[in-house]
Amino acid sequence: MSSMLRLRLTPFFYLELKDDVMNKILFKKQLSETVFLMRVEAPLIAEERKAGQFIILQLDNEYGERIPLTIADADVEEGSVTIIFQVVGKSTTVLSQLDAGDFIETVVGPLGKPTHIENFGTVVCVGGGIGVAPLHPIAQALKAAGNHVITIIGARNKELIILEEEMKNIADEFIVCTDDGSYGRKALVTEPLKEICERSPKPAMAIAIGPPMMMKFCAETTRPYEVYTEVSLNTIMVDGTGMCGGCRVNVDGKVKFVCVDGPEFDGHKVDFDNMISRLNSYKKFEKDAHACRLDQQIKEKEEAAL
Ligand code: FAD
Ligand code: FES
Ligand code: MG
Repeated sequence: MSSMLRLRLTPFFYLELKDDVMNKILFKKQLSETVFLMRVEAPLIAEERKAGQFIILQLDNEYGERIPLTIADADVEEGSVTIIFQVVGKSTTVLSQLDAGDFIETVVGPLGKPTHIENFGTVVCVGGGIGVAPLHPIAQALKAAGNHVITIIGARNKELIILEEEMKNIADEFIVCTDDGSYGRKALVTEPLKEICERSPKPAMAIAIGPPMMMKFCAETTRPYEVYTEVSLNTIMVDGTGMCGGCRVNVDGKVKFVCVDGPEFDGHKVDFDNMISRLNSYKKFEKDAHACRLDQQIKEKEEAAL
């Protein structure tokens, strides 16, 4: 974690130096209009992390919120973890404005249970939108374990497709869909998923990661075929240690904490309607937080122009 070194130069002046050992952004790349990839220095997390795990980062230790992001990849030699994130609100906007050489105040991880990986046979990996980023290390690990990997990636339109080459390289069969037909097959991901479930033999399992509604419908698609379907839940998180209860979900009638019991669960047992309604309950606060930041930026620009 980065820390501050404070040197007293005169009775009234201090020089504050950031300890630049950790959490430095080593590389930044824009993947689409709203999606960014960053490699962040975090050698201990890079060594420990496994597919399916995530970090929680905080951009401002005094006022900033904590946001979870999946570890999309890691480079032990460089001592870095890769995050891929979509700009959706205040914290991801601020993160996207940092550049290589800047620091992230706090990075905690690896958090969550790793994905259970073994040779299941044929596995369908379904990724929607930014969900392709967390799916990538899982598909990689499933392939390395000897599975026949069928990958379906989907997005609203061509511009929102990410990691196409990377996913294609891992997959034994690869399908890309867009809602508007601007690229690949004009379909929702559930369409090819259903066709694959109808094959004989049917796939051993599916794993779906994306917006909650997409995961809900993937689980509903596979349910009649009894194809076990793992989903990776993206609930609100605060501490990431099982203490605040912010990430609680109902799975098979029991309360589970996504940060410590998950993030992956049996999609046929998740109460998605409850999860979606809990996610929606914070919308007004998230919008206000983002609007306040814009107001502040406009005010700062106006003051600078005077
Ligand atoms: P806000 O305007 O504050 O919120 C926008 C939406 O983001 C909310 O409606 C809510 O659905 C979600 N969100 C907001 N705050 C939180 C929070 N503290 N915890 C979780 N979700 C929140 N996104 C990526 O782009 N890439 C990833 O790899 C990724 N991995 C994730 C892994 C896990 C385990 C979880 C739980 C979420 C992951 N997310 C990922 C979602 C990401 O955390 C949110 O997009 C981010 O917190 C939004 O913050 P914001 O302030 O920019 O947006
Ligand atoms: Fe607080 Fe999971 S984030 S209990
Ligand atoms: Mg936020």
